[in-house]
Amino acid sequence: MRHFPAHDFQLRTNLTGARESAVCLKHVAAAWFLLSLFSASALPQPRSATFSFAAAGDHAQTDATVASLNKLATSGTAFYLALGDLSYARGSVGKESDWCDFVKSKLASTYPFELLAGNHERDGSRQGRILNFAKCLPDKLNAKGLYGVEYYFDYLGLARFILISPDLKIAGVSYDYLAGDPHYKWLSNRIDGARAAGIPWVIVGAHKMCLSVGGEPCEISSDLIDLLIEKKVDLVLHAHDHVYERSKQLTCASAHVFVADCVVDDGSDNEYAKGAGTVIVVDGTFGRAQDDINLGDPQADYFVGNFTGRNMNLTYGFMRYTVTPTRLTGQFVRSAGGTFSDEFKISAPDDPGDY
Ligand SMILES: [Fe+2]
Repeated sequence: MRHFPAHDFQLRTNLTGARESAVCLKHVAAAWFLLSLFSASALPQPRSATFSFAAAGDHAQTDATVASLNKLATSGTAFYLALGDLSYARGSVGKESDWCDFVKSKLASTYPFELLAGNHERDGSRQGRILNFAKCLPDKLNAKGLYGVEYYFDYLGLARFILISPDLKIAGVSYDYLAGDPHYKWLSNRIDGARAAGIPWVIVGAHKMCLSVGGEPCEISSDLIDLLIEKKVDLVLHAHDHVYERSKQLTCASAHVFVADCVVDDGSDNEYAKGAGTVIVVDGTFGRAQDDINLGDPQADYFVGNFTGRNMNLTYGFMRYTVTPTRLTGQFVRSAGGTFSDEFKISAPDDPGDY
């Protein structure tokens, strides 16, 4: 039997005590974590809780942009998500505040005009850089992460908004969202965190998309699309193609062919069931000149057949979404041009209907 000197015994005793304390602390931490999860999910929002927000992309500084900003100012929305491609003004690196001033001149000073990068704000662009725009139109919603690039915020406990920059390089960092890379993990954890906290709706925004009939190719990774769909993100918001298009509700997607089995709800009645799959809205109609819709694109069948674009009832505007604990409605708000309209809702089984 080995004998320990007295000071050794004391050391062992202290170490044992420290280990037990650590184990005890771990139990306390685990209990606290579980309790916080339980508390969050055990405190559902009242049925009356609701808010509206707006979103679109591809802004510029045209007459249509002015019309959209004026419409936004009276839209009754709590905030706007600018889904990339902001000023388009050549030679404006270092002068991003000109466009910020233009935007701010149309909106209340307290209105949150939340930014996300587009390809026109990436590294190397001569039309402005996102981190400069972020200084003159700063976050007003307590965003966590890198505002303008990769960030999230929760709103009224009803929805988590996660904004990402796939296929863009910003401040020397490439945002690829390939399975297992740090950005992919960050996104995955933010989605899981929202579910664990009992937040009813998860909404992800990204400038670039894969599925579209507006002419832009699929430029984001299939890993990213698969992640969003596998985790049943309720609503995915894109811009980039200067058109409006709303998808069917999907449980999978292929960039090159239409897979009928991926469609869980064709959306033809403008109603979807919450949790059944993912709905994608591409809206790049805020102000920049529009693109053509190509109905011959093999991806066309992923969409509900209600489009606007340069060759199809060209209409400018943005989306207004209204969120309750059990329902998310989307409505195209026209600001200029044609007569296009669209409206849809995603409802949970326990949605009480109109109230
Ligand atoms: Fe654009």
